[in-house]
Amino acid sequence: MENKTKDAGTAKIEIDGKTYDMPVLSGTHGPNVVDVRKFYAQSGQFTFDPGFTSTASCESQITFINGEEGVLLHRGYPIGQLAAQATFPEVCYLILNGELPSKSELSTFNDEIKQHTLLHTQLDRFFDGFRRDSHPMAMLTGTVGAMASFYPGAMDSEDPEERRLASIRLIAKMPTLCARILKYNLGQKFVDPRNDLSYAENFLNMCFSVTAEDYKVDPKIAKAMDRFFILHADHEQNASTSTVRLAGSSGAHPFAAVAAGVACLWGPSHGGANEACLNMLHEIGTVDRIPEFIEKAKDKSDPFRLMGFGHRVYKNYDPRATVMRESAHEVLDLLGLKDQPILKVAMELERIALEDEYFAEKKLYPNVDFYSGIILDAIGFPKQMFTVLFSLARTVGWIAQLNEMLVDPTQRIGRPRQIYTGAAMRDYVPMDQR
Ligand code: ACO
Repeated sequence: MENKTKDAGTAKIEIDGKTYDMPVLSGTHGPNVVDVRKFYAQSGQFTFDPGFTSTASCESQITFINGEEGVLLHRGYPIGQLAAQATFPEVCYLILNGELPSKSELSTFNDEIKQHTLLHTQLDRFFDGFRRDSHPMAMLTGTVGAMASFYPGAMDSEDPEERRLASIRLIAKMPTLCARILKYNLGQKFVDPRNDLSYAENFLNMCFSVTAEDYKVDPKIAKAMDRFFILHADHEQNASTSTVRLAGSSGAHPFAAVAAGVACLWGPSHGGANEACLNMLHEIGTVDRIPEFIEKAKDKSDPFRLMGFGHRVYKNYDPRATVMRESAHEVLDLLGLKDQPILKVAMELERIALEDEYFAEKKLYPNVDFYSGIILDAIGFPKQMFTVLFSLARTVGWIAQLNEMLVDPTQRIGRPRQIYTGAAMRDYVPMDQR
């Protein structure tokens, strides 16, 4: 990767009468950054930023977010345009390679993905070790990590062909793995991939086809699935992506680094939010109970939060939520579920929260998870599978970001520092004197 930051001046940090000059760098879009890489060497002091709210951890050319204005771009293209006009494999190609594919490039890419959808049969035996009622994310974390054992060549991250192959394998095998996780939970036979179907159709078929009856993939449902994948494909340096980069920065196997990303995505503050949001909508149940839940969310002594609202970066409408909202209406219309009370609750909750002073003042808008759970539920996925579907979609972002890091000449092993506030140095006390 060619580093492209530009010189944008100097920042002065003054401590105890001494001034330290730090370079300021600019990128294509977004705020400038103060380059503090040499700050410790020069001053003997660290910067302190738990949660990284003011820290850029890397230079990246993949995704840009302007949270104040609700903008999300992949390689410069707005997410709304990609969701409306592109397919998920096309977006994968774009994210991995930097440019939209030509017709023949896309066809070659699709063909190559299809050549790698099968799992090693040995991998199926891992499932026997899991309880039938295991959380799907526990199985995904374990099996993605286990896949590393089948592709030892991918450890050679210096080799561009190994990096490319690892990316294709991950994107191709994730749907097969995720569908097997669902089938294992259901106690049904695994369904193998079919190369005559599109990426989204094949995934739906592996999830919902049973030996007694073929699953007829509705093109509109396949489109909604494909759009869900596009909307979750990448999101710059979020917690799971930063985890993948950090794990990979030691030279770890790419499948193991992605398994670390899966583990991070599991939590309810990140990928687990759509499951939590759907639970909350069911708990609210009817429109007349919404005010009670809004009050709970505002009450500082109550830990309850309105799931699907708020975002670390977006302080405006999450642009993915706008597309997801449309998709939810389309899917429920198609399945004849549009009068479902849950959709009414969601729409009314959104309206009331957007008008409420507390949410307006804190800039808490619906995020992508607010509507995605409704769609996935309507398609027929159990709630526990929602974060697995998010992982499937985010795999391309994780591997693209990892590959970008591996070829960044400024890359070093990630090693944050700390401010220590524990016990001061003291002498060991022998057991009989304590
Ligand atoms: N409901 C009620 N109040 C909220 C909510 C919410 N959903 N989100 C934030 N707030 C309040 C906080 O209580 C806090 O109030 P205070 O300043 O009076 O203390 C203020 O808004 C800021 O909140 P933080 O937690 O500091 O914001 P942060 O950026 O750390 O958190 C997060 C972002 C985790 C997404 C948070 O908004 C949240 O918990 N939302 C619900 C979970 C959710 O939907 N997560 C999905 C994220 S999107 C994704 O991962 C794809």
